[in-house]
Amino acid sequence: MYLNGLGGRLPPFTTDLTALESSARERLEPGPFRYVAGAAGSGATDRANRAAFDAWRLVPRMLRDATVRDLRTTVLGTRMPAPVLLAPVGVQSIVHPDGELATARAAAALGVPMVLSTASSHTVEEVAEASGDGPRWFQLYWPNDDEVCASILARARAAGFTTLVVTLDTWTLAWRPHDLDLSYLPFIRGIGTAVPYSDPAFRAGLARSPEKDPTSAVLHWVRMFTGTDKSWDRLPFLRQRWDGPIVLKGIQHPDDARRAVAAGMDGIVVSNHGGRQVDGAVASLDVLPEIAEAVGDEIEVLFDSGVRTGADVLKALALGAKAVLVGRPYVYGLAHGGEDGVRHVLRSLLADLDLTLALTGHRSPAELSPQSLRHA
Ligand code: FNR
Repeated sequence: MYLNGLGGRLPPFTTDLTALESSARERLEPGPFRYVAGAAGSGATDRANRAAFDAWRLVPRMLRDATVRDLRTTVLGTRMPAPVLLAPVGVQSIVHPDGELATARAAAALGVPMVLSTASSHTVEEVAEASGDGPRWFQLYWPNDDEVCASILARARAAGFTTLVVTLDTWTLAWRPHDLDLSYLPFIRGIGTAVPYSDPAFRAGLARSPEKDPTSAVLHWVRMFTGTDKSWDRLPFLRQRWDGPIVLKGIQHPDDARRAVAAGMDGIVVSNHGGRQVDGAVASLDVLPEIAEAVGDEIEVLFDSGVRTGADVLKALALGAKAVLVGRPYVYGLAHGGEDGVRHVLRSLLADLDLTLALTGHRSPAELSPQSLRHA
């Protein structure tokens, strides 16, 4: 229990994960802070994500002998200490120089799976090494060049990443005033490009190396990673090049979830990218129940967007998710204290989750169901 682990000492920073955004604002330059905290357009979807959690209330049950609990679960062959993963977040070096390496170390220390972004500031091989024996999944931004795609996938597989998460909702970047107003986009400065820039197939398409000609490399990157949507009939291409489980991230409609099943996918992440893509989109939690019902046990249903507390995790599980991904909170942890900061955030979230599970009268996440909740 983290409370005991503190041994009377003060925590390194707040244990209230809903308060991290405001303390990160004081620590980060405006560009990086707004890149992380910001959302698409007016921020309506980001706010809706949080409001959707507030609209559900847990119903505590008594005298259920919840003293001993087991939060462990297995998702697509990956064992984890609790139904929580670190969402793929790119360009982490904008908040701390150790970036994804620090996150990988913290996640591995707790056995929590990290999903590494294609937009990482460090290469897949470097992050794999930092991750040691820790569980690791790889998130793909699907490039417009099949050879580059195949090469990146082969490298991730060789580096020990087991599950592939394919992000579908960001084939082009949304209208994000928080970045536009500061003209802040890390990729244009060559940050978050380590995976393709270190890739032999990507480099083969350049007349001169990214080190010698950064401007041409960035233009090549932009053409390869933005502006081109894919279609369902392209999924076999990924299946042929990835021999582990494949998860589609960004699903918000039951029909798309059914199509993922029909396409032979292994899982989905019900996600609206933390409100960063479609302003005015439905809250991710609001569509979770109908999606979970549409696909039943045919596919693993994961969830993200707006998870901040142990109670939030329980609500998403009760509404049909097998596990959740958490995004901004651990990035704020990274900003506050590198590897230690990420570890503090994770330990806080897991301890809060465990306590709330206990006090609602449950011994394991599998006992949760829609009956555990009431709509406020
Ligand atoms: C993201 N997200 C994201 N998703 C993805 O598939 N690849 C990526 O590279 C990124 N990069 C990224 C950067 C930043 C700064 C943020 C905040 C988010 C989305 C992420 O995986 C996840 O869907 C959301 O962060 C979940 O919402 P919360 O937990 O941040 O509310």
